[in-house]
Amino acid sequence: MKNKAIYPGTFDPITYGHIDIIERTALMFEKIILAIFDNSLHKNTMFTISERISFAKEQIKHLTNVEVMGFCGLTVNFAKKHNINILIRGIRFISDFEYEYKLANMNNNLMASLETIFLLSSPKLSFISSSLIKDIVYYGGDVSSFLPKSIANFMIHKLKK
Ligand code: COA
Repeated sequence: MKNKAIYPGTFDPITYGHIDIIERTALMFEKIILAIFDNSLHKNTMFTISERISFAKEQIKHLTNVEVMGFCGLTVNFAKKHNINILIRGIRFISDFEYEYKLANMNNNLMASLETIFLLSSPKLSFISSSLIKDIVYYGGDVSSFLPKSIANFMIHKLKK
């Protein structure tokens, strides 16, 4: 289906950088599925899959054509299951490109009809990364311009525990 796209990622947690990509792509497609990868077996995430889903749902509730879903396994299988052949990824700087190039080509090898579309991050958000934010929160810094306050507060609460 051409008017439907997925935007997959770990979103640990979702930041203003991701939200910017979602808002811009929501204007281009009839429907976007924000697909949150449940990678608990392979990667330690700070937030559980249900926390990451609930953060994302809260942040996209003004976008009526965006749906948040968790998934396990291959992204291509998720795309096939939902009859989607467009995948969105954001690129912040040249160093992202190398990884994204491999990911897009591998996905395309696994599912020939799957096209990856890259959006350049807005310059004012291009330096944001979830792990840097976690670091700043850990050391008591201000992250209010990088992610929503409710998520930052949850993060502080989690770190205190
Ligand atoms: N603005 C701000 N930050 C951004 C961003 C943007 N537009 N785009 C990415 N990021 C950051 C994230 O904050 C995160 O930062 P961190 O590494 O410091 O934590 C990093 O970039 C990547 O996060 P994210 O966008 O959530 O994606 P990901 O690289 O974790 O996602 C998957 C990768 C889930 C898409 C990929 O692993 C996958 O498809 N997995 C499923 C299994 C599979 O199919 N594997 C085979 C693939 S060929």
